[in-house]
Amino acid sequence: MIHIAPLALAKLLARLLLRALGKRSLAHVRHLHASHRAYKHAERHEQNRLRDEEVIHSLAKQQRPARLHIGAGFNQLEGWINTDLEPEHAGCLTMDAGRPLPIESETLGHIFCEHLIEHLPRAQGVQLIAESFRCLVPGGRLRIATPDLSVYLSLFDRAASSKTGIDATDQPSEQFLKLYGRLLEDEPMTANKAINHVVRNWGHQFIWTKDELTGVLRSAGFVDISEHDIGQSEDPALRDLERHQLTVDGQVNQLETMVLEACKPKSLGER
Ligand SMILES: C[S@@+](CC[C@H](N)C(=O)[O-])C[C@H]1O[C@@H](n2cnc3c(N)ncnc32)[C@H](O)[C@@H]1O
Repeated sequence: MIHIAPLALAKLLARLLLRALGKRSLAHVRHLHASHRAYKHAERHEQNRLRDEEVIHSLAKQQRPARLHIGAGFNQLEGWINTDLEPEHAGCLTMDAGRPLPIESETLGHIFCEHLIEHLPRAQGVQLIAESFRCLVPGGRLRIATPDLSVYLSLFDRAASSKTGIDATDQPSEQFLKLYGRLLEDEPMTANKAINHVVRNWGHQFIWTKDELTGVLRSAGFVDISEHDIGQSEDPALRDLERHQLTVDGQVNQLETMVLEACKPKSLGER
């Protein structure tokens, strides 16, 4: 049995208590600092957004019909108003595509977004399409490049048909899974894994199909909805804009990206 004098015991307990309290309060102080930093960052971001949205508003008005590039990332297009929620370049302006566009009605000639709309929840995507319609001049065009969920779903057809014994040799699917697995360092890639990646990874919120996106564009009032190859358009202003192939494998990008263009009618009778 160990005998400790009452005074020594009291000192020991006090020291243990102080140490425990000290650790907790230090962790608490660190937590407060982190929250304060996050708060300051959000406050700065909000100030930048409000300041930049005024710039976007007046640029669009001055340049009418202006060209608006949304979710630009590293792709800074000459002759366009380049915007992003988190700009990566000095010339890029802060704009949140999930909010109403800070632009007057009928001031834009062209709107372009590449691998952006899938970062918005569906309702915000629908709102962005309606806002694009509002901001375009009659005859103005919207171009959207985004993954096509149908491509991922078709990977399951391949798995199902191989179970039934029907020859399932589908070159694009095989190639896609191989390249996708290599790109994501997740080999062997399966249809099941691929669909989870595209739906859950990279902050994606909603993956569209061609039919669903076409339906929403049509409901917003757009006409002349057409699909295009990457870089191709009948409208010279919308040609050779995509750059996503520089950040992902070019072939993967080719297989997963659909590009739709839609036109605001020149007159009400055109609807
Ligand atoms: C996958 S990157 C695409 C970048 C470039 N357009 C490309 O195709 O390589 C998605 C971009 O959308 C931006 N983004 C995400 N949510 C956004 C929002 N609510 N408003 C505007 N931009 C957003 C991100 O900051 C990022 O730059």
